[in-house]
Amino acid sequence: MQGEVSVSGAKNAALPSIAATLLTEQEVFLENVPHLGDVCTMLNLLMRMGTQVERPTPHSLSLRAERLTSWEAPYELVKTMRASILVLGPLVARFGRARVSLPGGCSIGSRPIDLHLIGLERMGAQIELKEGYVEAECRRLKGNTILFDISTVTGTENLMMAACLAEGRTVLENAAREPEVSDLAQLLVSMGAHIEGIGSGRIVIEGVKELKGARRRIIPDRIEAGTLMVAAGITKGDVLIRGGIPEHMQILFEKLREAGMTIQIVDQAIRARMDRRPSPVNVRTLPYPGFATDMQAQMMALASVGRGRSMIAETVFENRFMHINELMRMGAKIRVAGSTAFIQGVPRLSGAPVMATDLRASACLVLAGLAADGVTSVSRVYHLDRGYEGMEQKLSALGARIERVSD
Ligand code: EPU
Repeated sequence: MQGEVSVSGAKNAALPSIAATLLTEQEVFLENVPHLGDVCTMLNLLMRMGTQVERPTPHSLSLRAERLTSWEAPYELVKTMRASILVLGPLVARFGRARVSLPGGCSIGSRPIDLHLIGLERMGAQIELKEGYVEAECRRLKGNTILFDISTVTGTENLMMAACLAEGRTVLENAAREPEVSDLAQLLVSMGAHIEGIGSGRIVIEGVKELKGARRRIIPDRIEAGTLMVAAGITKGDVLIRGGIPEHMQILFEKLREAGMTIQIVDQAIRARMDRRPSPVNVRTLPYPGFATDMQAQMMALASVGRGRSMIAETVFENRFMHINELMRMGAKIRVAGSTAFIQGVPRLSGAPVMATDLRASACLVLAGLAADGVTSVSRVYHLDRGYEGMEQKLSALGARIERVSD
């Protein structure tokens, strides 16, 4: 694959930013918002509650949650998108109540929300689980020190948003350091929140009585950028990726360089080149700044056609290997022992009908299809649309023969 491509706004920064607009009665204007299934689900959720949503340009949103008519995130929306849980903190903090469906299990693991709930309880919320819903109430949240025993991205975001309107100081210890958490924090600061330690594992929030409107541009999607880099690598291509932030992708760069990719920053863009079969890599997923679990499946596609034996360990989610059986149907040689996959690279994969089980698995299968002989047809491609904007247009502009045959 050859050519230039631009990265869209980050899904996992856009979703909490949209939820954060519930914290103020004033207008919040977001730019660089990607067009994605999950963003539509989040907007639907806010509109049902009474938020006024306008889209003045294709990638900008004006949101105004002046008066809400409902404080509920219903099961039918939460079951399609776990990130709906992000409305919990803002609703309790501003309105003193929320009713949010429990997300339940999902295709990458059981994914509990206990840390979100324990944190809110420590801030004074009364929480009950009734009929599959979390019901939370509190006149005004009170700041407290909350220590996360596991690094949680949406857990940190939920409690950080809640703490902005709480009385007094909240300290989040072992907070998630993902760039998307920092992007949300910057939005909250421009809405008038007092937050220190942004980007560190210790975030300190001094609560204020109210927040105001703001304007902010969502950061570029480091996972989309990474997926496009792997697309260049797996096809022995030369691609210039515009709009990514290299600082957010350092470990990925390391691993791709280990695999033999030449990566250069040219004119503020990322040039990814590969002219041979990938060398083997050893990867262990970890919270940021470690190797992102959201890039694990794509890296596995690359390792499948490597020269030698790679090892990929998934430590963040317990069941994020659903793509392996599909890759094996395309001829990949992979053995799994617990949470580690051993991949014996093969010279070529062969096209096959395969099924996507989650968002990043769908990206992995599309990448594998680019490198496979013959035709690969990926079904349940709605998973891809949840988190990648116009992926088939972007790839075909780079020379891939890819076509959407039905939704
Ligand atoms: N966890 C708990 N209890 C909690 C919260 C999390 O045990 O209360 C565990 C999870 O089960 C998991 C680990 O902690 O084993 C980390 O999960 P985390 O809470 O960080 O995940 P998340 O916030 O639900 C976000 C992204 C995911 C991404 C993960 C990890 C959003 C909207 N989602 O999920 O993105 O994989 O962080 O980086 O930000 C994706 O985009 O494909 C995606 C799944």
